[in-house]
Amino acid sequence: MAAFKIAVVVGSIRRESINKKLAQALVKLGAPNVEFQIVRIDDMPLYNQDDEGNLVPSVVRFKSEIAAADGLLFVTPEHSRSIPTALKNAIDWGARPWGKNSWTGKVAAVVGTSPGAISTALAQQHLRQILGAQGVTLMGGEVYIQFKPGLIGDDGAVADDSTKGFLQGFLNQFAILVGKLAAK
Ligand code: FNR
Repeated sequence: MAAFKIAVVVGSIRRESINKKLAQALVKLGAPNVEFQIVRIDDMPLYNQDDEGNLVPSVVRFKSEIAAADGLLFVTPEHSRSIPTALKNAIDWGARPWGKNSWTGKVAAVVGTSPGAISTALAQQHLRQILGAQGVTLMGGEVYIQFKPGLIGDDGAVADDSTKGFLQGFLNQFAILVGKLAAK
């Protein structure tokens, strides 16, 4: 059976992003029967309804990558106790034009990391609210990773054994859910 496709949306566009590092480490971990593809959100213009009639190529590409995915994995930092602007911008492009919502019917999981002790909890709550309104089914549970030195090794893999086991369980659970609910 062909593997289900999971599009990985990283909420940070920063070059040295710890969330991008976490996303790459998750892709490295992998899970049965799924293949991950990190999709870029840094090349889309600021959302403007005036531009909906003539979507720029980066937006067309992003929307088709989301449409082609069976599942979505969001890996995002928290900015000012919410999701980063770049991620909201991508979600708005995905949701439009009216009648061409790329999110509806997808299944998603959310994870994030921050140096802070309550690590992205509020951003994740906002993200769940936003995606739920777009018709996305969200996997339950909470995955807040506090980013500490040594969490991810020089090889880009999760170095801490207990976090690694926890994240592998999370990915496996998501892969099973995607297999069950994948949009046909
Ligand atoms: C932050 N940061 C942050 N962290 C957090 O846990 N809660 C928050 O509300 C915020 N707010 C916030 C706003 C802005 C504008 C910035 C730039 C940063 C800190 C943030 O967790 C830290 O910069 C991470 O490194 C961001 O993740 P990436 O970009 O490295 O993936």
